[in-house]
Amino acid sequence: MEALQFLFSVESWRMAVFWTLSLIFSYLHLLFRGIFQKSQSYPRRSLHPSSEQPICIITGATSGLGAAAAKYLSREGYYVVLVGRSSHLLSKTIQEIKQQQEDVHLKALQVDLSSFQSMLSFKSSLEQWLLDTNLHPSVQLLINNAGILATSCRFTAEGYDQMVETNYIGAFALTNLLLPMLKNSSTPSRIVNVTSFTHRCVCLLLFSYELHRQLFLMDPSHHISVMAADPGAVKTAIMREVPRHVSQLAFTVLKSLGILQSPENGVDSIIDAALAPREASGQYFFGGKGRTMKSSPLSYDAKLAEKLWASSCELLREAQLTMQESTKAS
Ligand SMILES: NC(=O)c1ccc[n+]([C@@H]2O[C@H](COP(=O)([O-])OP(=O)(O)OC[C@H]3O[C@@H](n4cnc5c(N)ncnc54)[C@H](OP(=O)(O)O)[C@@H]3O)[C@@H](O)[C@H]2O)c1
Repeated sequence: MEALQFLFSVESWRMAVFWTLSLIFSYLHLLFRGIFQKSQSYPRRSLHPSSEQPICIITGATSGLGAAAAKYLSREGYYVVLVGRSSHLLSKTIQEIKQQQEDVHLKALQVDLSSFQSMLSFKSSLEQWLLDTNLHPSVQLLINNAGILATSCRFTAEGYDQMVETNYIGAFALTNLLLPMLKNSSTPSRIVNVTSFTHRCVCLLLFSYELHRQLFLMDPSHHISVMAADPGAVKTAIMREVPRHVSQLAFTVLKSLGILQSPENGVDSIIDAALAPREASGQYFFGGKGRTMKSSPLSYDAKLAEKLWASSCELLREAQLTMQESTKAS
């Protein structure tokens, strides 16, 4: 019954038709560009040839693409901080990675990206851990990967739409909180925002390109590059809210179209974005093999991005004020 109800909902048709078409469009675009133009692709490079071990923070690292990225980048020599909501899932993911490769450096820290309070506690825990382990108080790579696919509109304790807060506001707030640590790096640092072919993350794209303008183009002194990465369709737990029969049907259709990937393959565009040379800042990585393409025209609207930036900053200020008031009151 639940599956049938979902199948007849507007949301279900939007997902089935619009998203599949936009994904096919992205692949066709990549294919035609490859045939008719010189497609722009970037090789993977180790960003940190120095002896100091670079620190990489990955949100949503307890499942799917985040866990696959943690595995790959820890093997590349990063000290990976896995960030997630559940301490049990964090320990389980670390154990699984260590079973395959013992000599990797991993640390688990909890955060709920739908809570500003939780993000502030996360920042303190991170600073304390760096201090306790005698590591330089800086971050070299931040991957904003956590995200949900909500099938209904619901609100967080702070009164925001749960999906928008997790997928966009969480990334915006965390990036701003960690910016001083990214700027404090003695080697070039990077932010990778994981976005989606559905372009339901257009806020995340506007934010990525605005951050690229502010950090890479206008303030090159800090050597921070910003990339967007779109993994395509990947078989992960992202459809956990969709009735099981419907998600299985969706995976079957995507598989028969030949565009469904495993997390180990789907993570390619994220790793490409993480390891591309600095001059690729502001690019949208899609399709693996270091390939990039243009995202939707709306995502390049600089005026809209400025407005979004200003209202997101206002939102953060309001949240901080509310937190200060409730601390005073208690
Ligand atoms: N799979 C795809 O086809 C696809 C396509 C395009 C883009 N993406 C994007 O890729 C990213 C990773 O998704 P995935 O496919 O790997 O999905 P997934 O397997 O469901 O992983 C999502 C991760 O985000 C975490 N998360 C969710 N809400 C959170 C919160 N409030 N605070 C902290 N962490 C939270 C989850 O933690 P819990 O385990 O605690 O829930 C989980 O670790 C998402 O941003 C998604 O939009 C995925």
